[in-house]
Amino acid sequence: MKVTIVGAGNVGATAADVIASKEIAENVVLLDIKEGFAEGKALDLMQTASTKGFDSVITGTTGDYSLTEGSDVVVITSGIPRKPGMTREELIGINANIVKDVSKNILEYTPNPIIVVVSNPMDTMTYLALKSTGLDPKRVIGMGGALDSSRFKTYISLAINKPQKNIDAMVIGGHGDTTMIPLHRFAKHNDNLLTELLNSDEIEKVVKSTMVGGATLTKLLGTSAWYAPGSSIAYLVDSILNDHKNIIPCSVYLDGEYDQSDICIGVPCVIGKNGLEEVIQLDLNDDELTKFNESADAVRSMNSTLVDHT
Ligand code: NAI
Ligand code: 2OP
Repeated sequence: MKVTIVGAGNVGATAADVIASKEIAENVVLLDIKEGFAEGKALDLMQTASTKGFDSVITGTTGDYSLTEGSDVVVITSGIPRKPGMTREELIGINANIVKDVSKNILEYTPNPIIVVVSNPMDTMTYLALKSTGLDPKRVIGMGGALDSSRFKTYISLAINKPQKNIDAMVIGGHGDTTMIPLHRFAKHNDNLLTELLNSDEIEKVVKSTMVGGATLTKLLGTSAWYAPGSSIAYLVDSILNDHKNIIPCSVYLDGEYDQSDICIGVPCVIGKNGLEEVIQLDLNDDELTKFNESADAVRSMNSTLVDHT
């Protein structure tokens, strides 16, 4: 199996590290535009193979897409973060050009890949990757919900003082501070509902911490996080390549599901060898549905800035 990761920065290189260390794919190609950067990251990671004990091969390249030929999965992490004074539309414009350009180059050597989009604003970039490649919507998947859910589980674990491995919790909606929806009503520790383990104030605190989870880390680190994002990418890629059919919230194209159409937004998905195998339709209550519709409105309004790019 072969995975290409475009963007060898913090998130891309961490994803490569986890994918190779766990031998999720035999071949990992890291591609970046910064001269020598991907080659350096790949070589550094290869030098962990003997001490970590893995056989996967990581190759780096500065922009040579021929090395990405025959990729089973392509992860797009290339892009720039928002800089002071830059409007959201300007950021979207720059990242949209990058995502479009990268997708076009990928298709030249791998006509039918499964693409995992990570670059922000992720839901909008997923929609753009889908529209600009014309791939089957099941093969273009945005990663955000996996990360937000792992943050939700962390905050639940800290609040109930129990290990994360027995916690089941999910975040749907857009991948943004105000658009994500941590579904506390469905969250559980083993068979115990979160609503029976914490009072409403404690639940609200967990939900709020989850929603600003990315921003909290950006403030602490001075840039956005990479360990949990990289690990979430690897978890998604593993479910695809090894056909685990894990249920993972992902940003996927909706065509009537949750009463939404022509949008990519986070919903629970069965992820397997064909990419999106199935969208799980949760029985949302009125409050959750209202939040989901508001989130979709916000994502749609962001998508409307793409007029010149699709
Ligand atoms: P970074 O700045 O460390 O890495 C980005 C890399 O992309 C750089 O090395 C840059 O040279 C490269 N790049 C830029 N244009 C390129 C092009 N045309 N072709 C190939 N490579 C190109 O940034 P980081 O922290 O790795 O974040 C990457 C993206 O992922 C950002 O947009 C960030 O907002 C997003 N992100 C999304 C998350 C999610 O859950 N969806 C979580 C964390 C980050
Ligand atoms: C994160 O959630 C900024 O999308 C990035 O960490």
